Amino acid sequence: MGEEISNKQVILNNYVKAYVKESDMSLRTSKIQLKILSGCDDAVLLKNLYLSIDPFILTHMKNEEHFVPPYKLDSPIFGYGVSKVLDSSHPNFKTGELVWGFTCLEEYSLIKDPDTLFKVHDKDLPLSYYTGILGEFLEPIVMIGLFSLNVRLKINVFRVIILGMPGMTAYVGFFEFCSPKKGETVYVSAASGAIGQLVGQFAKNAGCYVVGSAGSKEKSAVALMKVDLLKNKFGFDEAFNYKEEQDYNAALKRYFPDGIDIYFENVGGKMLEAVLSNMRLYGRVAVCGMISQYNIEQHEGVHNLLYVLTKRIRMEGYQANEHYHLYPKYLEMVVPLIKEEKITYVEDIAEGIESVPGAIVGLFSGRNVGKQVVVVARE
Ligand SMILES: NC(=O)c1ccc[n+]([C@@H]2O[C@H](COP(=O)([O-])OP(=O)(O)OC[C@H]3O[C@@H](n4cnc5c(N)ncnc54)[C@H](OP(=O)(O)O)[C@@H]3O)[C@@H](O)[C@H]2O)c1
Repeated sequence: MGEEISNKQVILNNYVKAYVKESDMSLRTSKIQLKILSGCDDAVLLKNLYLSIDPFILTHMKNEEHFVPPYKLDSPIFGYGVSKVLDSSHPNFKTGELVWGFTCLEEYSLIKDPDTLFKVHDKDLPLSYYTGILGEFLEPIVMIGLFSLNVRLKINVFRVIILGMPGMTAYVGFFEFCSPKKGETVYVSAASGAIGQLVGQFAKNAGCYVVGSAGSKEKSAVALMKVDLLKNKFGFDEAFNYKEEQDYNAALKRYFPDGIDIYFENVGGKMLEAVLSNMRLYGRVAVCGMISQYNIEQHEGVHNLLYVLTKRIRMEGYQANEHYHLYPKYLEMVVPLIKEEKITYVEDIAEGIESVPGAIVGLFSGRNVGKQVVVVARE
């Protein structure tokens, strides 16, 4: 028997109907053994270091099984994280190793199916990057293991959809779906977030003219306003605060007098309507996400779809985790860019497990500046 210590966990109290609130979650303190019990084979005991806070968490908080399996009430909720192995009864993992992958939003996790964990491969880069720019995907077979064993959910595994990690999501959407060409015009919404900041930088590296929108003027941990960050840190050609615009159509005309070739869609709703009016012939729209629609009970309709026909626009939704085979190609591109400081990645790091509920809620009011991460413990 090992030492027993307390373990703070983030619990879902009730299913979310529209707006997620901090009171939908609570913090519970339970106990955990710091040693894997004999007979518990192929398990790893993790000390969670960095937790990834992603919009997909909200989709699991809703009891809408047609989309993703809901979290189990009164149980720790799951997500991605970077962790240290404290004990292992699995041959592939050793005590002291650093891993990343699916874990629970708690201080310590006993993972009974570590096929859902991957070793940290490049220790020269910040560990927290494995929640964002460097994270990869779980292949379908791995996801089945995760859901059937780890999180104790009774679900139909064939209906599982897990949204992927930001770096690969940006890469797949921009390069595979938008096929950018030098000199083309690119618009990115939610541009200062985990995915948007990378799309903008990839587009600049590809020789495009890039405009991003973001929605807050408040100072943040990085002490820069979001719009300034887009222009001065990520190198966007132009940026605007969509919350200050009365007319999105007029705003887009201002920045794209000759129209938009590529739209990287993160938000949906009224912004998509305005974008369609401003697209050029043979434009491409990569539908990565529609965050403006996640937090409302009744989805908004979209006008202007006629332009998809008349302008021959290619508009396609995708799930980045279905493009797992591209991960090595992505790493080959992105790791040198990070090391040569040709690309930058801004994280919004909140301190302590107690900050998880606020960080989740903050994603839907744009409180985060960059990739939202919670540091539970430093190595
Ligand atoms: N297809 C895939 O495989 C995949 C994978 C992962 C994520 N996604 C999607 O990609 C999008 C971006 O995700 P992320 O992880 O990079 O998150 P993020 O951009 O870091 O954070 C979310 C941002 O969305 C913006 N936002 C929130 N509510 C909004 C609203 N009602 N209207 C307009 N903007 C709003 C906020 O920024 P501002 O208000 O400052 O702009 C907020 O900071 C999301 O839609 C997510 O669901 C897709």
